[in-house]
Amino acid sequence: MLSNQPPFSDPHPLYKEMRQHYPISQDENGTWHLTRYDDVKMLMSDPRFMRQPPDHSGYINQEKSSTILDDVMGRWSFFNDPPDHTRLREVLGIMINPSFIKNTREIIDSMAESLLTSLLSHSTIDFMQAFAYPLPVNVINTLLGTSLDNTTLRKWSLAILNAADCGSPEELASINDIVLEMQHYFANLILVREQQPSNDWISTLVNVKNTYHLSFDDIVANCIFLLIVGHETTHLALGMGLMALLQNPQQRQLLQNDLKLVPSAIEEILRFEAPLNKVSRWTSEPILISDVMIPKDQLVVGIVNAANRDPEKFIRPDEFDITRTNNRHLTFGCGIHNCIGALLARLELHIAFKKLAPHLHKFHLIEDQIEWVSNSSFRYLFKLMINIKNT
Ligand code: HEM
Repeated sequence: MLSNQPPFSDPHPLYKEMRQHYPISQDENGTWHLTRYDDVKMLMSDPRFMRQPPDHSGYINQEKSSTILDDVMGRWSFFNDPPDHTRLREVLGIMINPSFIKNTREIIDSMAESLLTSLLSHSTIDFMQAFAYPLPVNVINTLLGTSLDNTTLRKWSLAILNAADCGSPEELASINDIVLEMQHYFANLILVREQQPSNDWISTLVNVKNTYHLSFDDIVANCIFLLIVGHETTHLALGMGLMALLQNPQQRQLLQNDLKLVPSAIEEILRFEAPLNKVSRWTSEPILISDVMIPKDQLVVGIVNAANRDPEKFIRPDEFDITRTNNRHLTFGCGIHNCIGALLARLELHIAFKKLAPHLHKFHLIEDQIEWVSNSSFRYLFKLMINIKNT
């Protein structure tokens, strides 16, 4: 669902109010919400907060468990606790490691270059469609060994991202159909790689399956996992980063004048609007957070975009300041589930903004054509129309 209305277009006033007046609160469904930096950090890093729901009900939608998507998600490191989490994370580490990521630099560079050339040939264009989406999609297609077009991938990943918000049995049935489509696609590809291995992540998963006790279904599920996490959040950061730079002309000029600011600009882009808005855990025992005792078996959500603007942690948190130092945002999480793809995401952002920076003065936001998708877990920027003046 598209929405230009708060809280989707700007949830920050609401988060500020929550942080100031009810930093630890419970909604009508009984879910707890944390908004202060220290509390969200504790949620991410204290092992008494677990990923697995206590009764093994649904991961995304507690009342509507036993969906095909639930079965797939149950095989992701994201939704597991040690020891399964440790084993699955090790598998991911074989693929997403610093030397592998370093080797992809040239590929990302040439992809970003050709997207930029095409972008600059337009006078009005949606930056999300023309640059922010295709860049990480091309990267993940190359790494994983898939050749999915943007339309199919968008349909697949929006189904998964929107699953937590879906209401009716019809919506759930259509999500299940899409997951079946994904499973079918990867099952075929895995069978091919079993016969003809290649230098991609699918082949790596096939290669290590015995060592790490991965079933065929585990490999399929982890391909789906990597496909989605490997591009969605990065594309949102690219879009929201450009938006922040264009809405803050002084900062845009600073970056344009000094490309050495690219690394700190990227950290500020990540802090200012975190693509993954929320993380969630279950209490394995009663846990005291600040002065509130949260009972056992409760669902607790940490709002990353509230924590990232906590004035106790960041000076002038609502200001977009690309020279900010000591920028310890929680955008990539922390603790055992911290983002294993952070290195890859930072590399893509670094290459992209270094290329975009010299052209930023040519870009002008069409403010009334910014569109968000309403989503409870992501800051989902959908459309970012810009005018480009090449003269
Ligand atoms: C700007 C881009 C990205 C952001 C903001 C982001 C954010 C996050 C966050 C906050 C978590 C922790 C969630 C939690 O604690 O519940 C996480 C975990 C994860 N991310 Fe990312 N991510 C990004 C890009 C990527 C990329 C490019 C990949 C892979 C290619 C990736 C793979 C993963 C995986 C596999 C996990 C789960 C780790 C585990 O369960 O141990 N991410 N990400």
